[in-house]
Amino acid sequence: MFFRKKEKYEERVLPTHIAIIMDGNGRWAKKRSLPRSAGHAAGSKTFKTIARYCNKIGIRYLTVYAFSTENWKRPKSEVDNIMNILRDYLKDTDNFKEENIKLQFIGDRGPLAEDIKELMLKAEADSADATGLHLNIALNYGGRDEIVHAVKSIIRNGIGVDDITERTISDHLYTAGQPDPDFIIRPSGEYRLSNYLIWQSAYAEYWFSDVLWPDFSPRDLDRAIDDFSRRNRRFGGV
Ligand code: IPE
Ligand code: IPE
Ligand code: MG
Repeated sequence: MFFRKKEKYEERVLPTHIAIIMDGNGRWAKKRSLPRSAGHAAGSKTFKTIARYCNKIGIRYLTVYAFSTENWKRPKSEVDNIMNILRDYLKDTDNFKEENIKLQFIGDRGPLAEDIKELMLKAEADSADATGLHLNIALNYGGRDEIVHAVKSIIRNGIGVDDITERTISDHLYTAGQPDPDFIIRPSGEYRLSNYLIWQSAYAEYWFSDVLWPDFSPRDLDRAIDDFSRRNRRFGGV
């Protein structure tokens, strides 16, 4: 466990909304001659640790990429394995109830198994009044898919062409009502967004690391946040 003096937290600027691409589970397992499923199990532990840590240090929003619209290309056994990990997480409601974490899923729920959809709704309802971290889990999420979904609902709602603004689009995304992520973290040595939050990340700061997700620790997150703290965000100004 990594401890810091409280004053240290107060000195630095915390991001309001951190978004993480939890990548590298497969390579972590391969390095240890383990099956990919062991990597996903380890990655899920890291996810719980990092979510708790964000809650503890006062991060308001955390969005984690758990399964993309592209991840269906993987072997069925791996997809099933990832879905089972999610089932276990949602059944163990202490994970978020005791922590006062508010859970929300973002992504297209349509193709998911019925029992998972029910568990998702229940977790959201059970944690609706939580006042701690707002945790979005991106599941069957794709940024382009989200924009298509938004455009369709704008048209379905009969919003006039001349009334459409950037705000209209934001308000029809899965993240409606939330601040855009200001800090996007991708471990595992890949330097791409992989269709993650492509509208919302327009002005985010990025942080990349070679650490594989199962090895990612609160100390790594602290390093990233210290780095964020030192950045000069200009938003097009001077
Ligand atoms: C991320 O780890 C987990 C998911 C995409 C569900 P990967 O499974 O992509 O791990 P690598 O990239 O193969 O190492
Ligand atoms: C992004 O990781 C999706 C998740 C972490 C859920 P991928 O491993 O699927 O991304 P690519 O294939 O390297 O772009
Ligand atoms: Mg990957």
